[in-house]
Amino acid sequence: MLKLAGVSKTFSIGSINEKRALDRVDLSLKPGEFVTVIGGNGAGKSTLFNCISGMYEIEEGQIILDGMDITNQPEYKRSRYIGRVFQDPLKGTAFDMTIEQNLAIALGKGQPADFRPGVTKKNIKYLQERLALLDLGLEDRMKDKVGLLSGGQRQALTLLMATLVKPKLLLLDEHTAALDPAIAKKVMELTRQLVEKENLSTLMITHNMKASLEFGTRTIMMHDGKIIMDIKGEERNTMTVDKLIAQFEKRSGTALENDRMLLS
Ligand SMILES: Nc1ncnc2c1ncn2[C@@H]1O[C@H](COP(=O)(O)OP(=O)(O)O)[C@@H](O)[C@H]1O
Ligand SMILES: [Mg+2]
Repeated sequence: MLKLAGVSKTFSIGSINEKRALDRVDLSLKPGEFVTVIGGNGAGKSTLFNCISGMYEIEEGQIILDGMDITNQPEYKRSRYIGRVFQDPLKGTAFDMTIEQNLAIALGKGQPADFRPGVTKKNIKYLQERLALLDLGLEDRMKDKVGLLSGGQRQALTLLMATLVKPKLLLLDEHTAALDPAIAKKVMELTRQLVEKENLSTLMITHNMKASLEFGTRTIMMHDGKIIMDIKGEERNTMTVDKLIAQFEKRSGTALENDRMLLS
């Protein structure tokens, strides 16, 4: 479904701040595969997503999505079939528009302007059904502006919007990290449900080592712009957080600097 071959990204080339954030990364995802991504601060996880989504051009390598070479495709085109949810709940929705307006926009994603569905009665019924899945009571608040919602509610809505039209690839970048623990748990469960039900090919960055093993069927660990571990199958089934940390320290030659990864 997704194939990265030798993808490199360097920031500030030629300056003293030159930083190779991705170093010849290879990665293949099967259709419907749910992969968790871990690694310390600055490992290159977000850069990986930014290169896949087209926010950044890469200087070397190739990106294939569903058989299509998207290496040089502009971001706005890729956004039609790549769903993204960021850490910041303010990013994914338009706060000054109502819930139903936001959802209608998500429903029209990838379609030419003339064909985009408006907020029709038929749509609203469908959108209400989808909203009810969130179990947050938002289906009764369709005319409320999104700015009235809590961070967790917005993030759940963003997730629903990112998957309303089935994306070829879903990218989740620590999408629950800014939420209160209780709602974070709920959004993670919702993530699991949506990914499984829709069989979505998904990459999910998390700082939570436990979650990285509990969700999906495969875990990759990044360090210094490289994928240093790729755990799946039987190895994944028997992996524990302790083993994961030990292997990380062995392969990266550094201790996990990030307490956050261990504590949560
Ligand atoms: N826009 C940018 N300009 C310059 N350097 C960047 C930029 N984005 C990321 N970097 C650098 O690239 C490296 C990887 O960053 P990032 O992908 O954000 O790491 P992670 O998400 O794993 O914490 C870091 O050293 C970071 O400082
Ligand atoms: Mg990041």
